[in-house]
Amino acid sequence: MERTFVAVKPDGVKRGLIGKIIQRFEDKSYKIVALKMMNVTQEIAAKHYEEHAGKSFYPELIDFITSGPIVAMVVEGNNVIKGVRHIVGSTRPDEADVGSIRADYSSYSTTNLVHASDGEKSAERELHLYFKDSELCENYKTMFEIILDEHGGLKQ
Ligand code: PPS
Repeated sequence: MERTFVAVKPDGVKRGLIGKIIQRFEDKSYKIVALKMMNVTQEIAAKHYEEHAGKSFYPELIDFITSGPIVAMVVEGNNVIKGVRHIVGSTRPDEADVGSIRADYSSYSTTNLVHASDGEKSAERELHLYFKDSELCENYKTMFEIILDEHGGLKQ
């Protein structure tokens, strides 16, 4: 099953949106397999956003992600990488689809509430940057998985 790395950024934590944001993923039938609140060090921030080093917004990006706690999580599900990016919405909140988290709750590209991996490679890299394998809790079934089992397993 596909996994992705997601983080509620410091603005989402400070605004009390942690629960609402996680709810969107659970509502979609995705499974939370790891979750923690943490402060992002300069070292982790630099590794996380290494592909953006040198871009005009890079200093703002690092300052912002290290400005307060985040809630980091690993989310699992069918085509979850693309699905989560859709739920989160475009980087620019003014271009994000209505109904997405960024369209509904944000109006700035810096304070855009959520990070979500943009592909398979970045998902694997990012989730291992934030979590050890031993922190991944895959030893439970969601109601959705139980229903799927009853109907013969995963269908695209
Ligand atoms: S790019 O250049 O298209 O690859 O960049 P993009 O994927 O749109 O954004 C990469 C991350 O930078 C954040 N971002 C910004 N932060 C601060 N200020 C500005 N102006 C800005 N523009 C983009 C954007 O939210 C991405 O961070 P994550 O955490 O992945 O959402």
